[in-house]
Amino acid sequence: MLRTSVVVRVPAKINLLLAVGGVRPDGFHDLATVFHAVGLYDEIVVTAGIPGAGISLAVAGTNAQGVPLDRHNLAWRAVELLAAREGITPDVHLELRKAIPVAGGMAGGSADAAGALVACDHLWTDNGRRPIGREALEPLAAQLGSDVPFALHGGTFVGLGRGERLTPALARGELHWVIAIADGELSTPEVYAECDRLRGSSVVPEPFVPDELMAALAAGDAVAVGRAMRNDLQPAAIALRPSLARTLRVGEELGALGSLVSGSGPSCVFLARDADHATDLAVGLSGADVCRSVRRTVGPVPGARVVGEH
Ligand code: C5P
Repeated sequence: MLRTSVVVRVPAKINLLLAVGGVRPDGFHDLATVFHAVGLYDEIVVTAGIPGAGISLAVAGTNAQGVPLDRHNLAWRAVELLAAREGITPDVHLELRKAIPVAGGMAGGSADAAGALVACDHLWTDNGRRPIGREALEPLAAQLGSDVPFALHGGTFVGLGRGERLTPALARGELHWVIAIADGELSTPEVYAECDRLRGSSVVPEPFVPDELMAALAAGDAVAVGRAMRNDLQPAAIALRPSLARTLRVGEELGALGSLVSGSGPSCVFLARDADHATDLAVGLSGADVCRSVRRTVGPVPGARVVGEH
């Protein structure tokens, strides 16, 4: 079937664990992380253009400010990369409908790139071409960024290397989350650099995933998950944005099982006991005036999925 338009939905991620090791020769840091996809989604719409149209990009949504509309956008580069692999001239219009905060530590840019890969893979089915599927898209995703392969999968995964080497985590049940979306952004490279600066010349141990967290996930024990959550980038994010300490404190005072800066921040995530507690947390955080907006959600949810095509 010749398609003219494909819509893909991709979730945000949080890191239940972000253990950051030393700097590698390529400038990246060795990580041991546990990715967890939560129900906050961007939608990527890819529409076929006339031959010779090239790539164009538009962004919509309340979180659209500051998103590049050219090659600097990872989704644009995702289209180019898949086109090059498949020997296709990319004539497509990309529309990013953003709900994931931009530069918020929830991998919104990576989600859009993963979405663009899946959408174009489904769009480009003329001349008998079949979609190459998630497994074949994964190396392209890893080339685009450390968090992009996970956005293809969703769920809960352990990530090693710079985060791109994934293995599924055995996780039972649903976790209830509240996300405090901060005003403004934090730059991921700057937060990593601040982490290095704070560590100075101290010896950095090899990062690993503690057994306590894996056991807590396998048992579906939210209290134990909350206790085992950790983010080595948190001190750096707080150093660059001191107000985050108060956001986290408010969540703790409201009884969150775990309170953490998400990835490189500045979004903060709070683990609730159950759906009712998530509502209480959301109301309390909204009333405390410590963030731009608050979302209640659940995880894990599936990764990039086609939700419409014409
Ligand atoms: O891979 P990605 O493009 O998401 O990485 C953005 C930046 O975050 C990198 O340029 C690097 O500064 C930092 N980073 C890192 N170690 C990682 C992942 C990201 O230092 N494992």
